[in-house]
Amino acid sequence: MTKRLLIVYHSATGGTQRMLDAVVAGARDPSITGVEVCVRAALAASAAEVRGAAGILLGTPENFGYMSGALKDFFDRIYYPCLEQTQGLPYGLFIRAGNDGLGAQHAIERLTTGLRWRAVVPPLILRGELCDVGLADCRLLGQTLSTGLEAAVF
Ligand SMILES: Cc1cc2nc3c(=O)[nH]c(=O)nc-3n(C[C@H](O)[C@H](O)[C@H](O)COP(=O)(O)O)c2cc1C
Repeated sequence: MTKRLLIVYHSATGGTQRMLDAVVAGARDPSITGVEVCVRAALAASAAEVRGAAGILLGTPENFGYMSGALKDFFDRIYYPCLEQTQGLPYGLFIRAGNDGLGAQHAIERLTTGLRWRAVVPPLILRGELCDVGLADCRLLGQTLSTGLEAAVF
């Protein structure tokens, strides 16, 4: 049966979007046939979509030492409607930051800990200028989630 990988993200000025594009390219690697990749803007993503996902990737810029307001809105809306039914959900995290990113990472991890989601890859933070190595890491992140879901490793 095809599993769904949900990718929820926000980008205001395109940095996280570039990370997202690479993550999606990795997740949709043609060799992976058993996973459907579903991309949703944070402001549009719903609790039903989270409940229907086998895994989730979250992407955000760090703004003022925190996740973007759009991703916070996503958590505000889905937290209680998902709390009972998504425990153990495998997840990964990618963050675009000027020079830090840890505030956003820790804020998200507090929420995912409350939800009992399972981090199956380390958080990926790209700081400063985006470079090919960082974008290759993004592709690998997407590919890892998809491959792991297809192989039922997570
Ligand atoms: C309002 C605002 C607040 C920001 N706050 C932080 C911050 O606290 N830490 C940091 O490392 N970068 C910070 N940045 C830099 C952004 O994370 C960076 O520009 C990033 O590329 C924005 O992502 P986006 O292009 O996907 O919107 C901030 C940028 C803006 C516009």
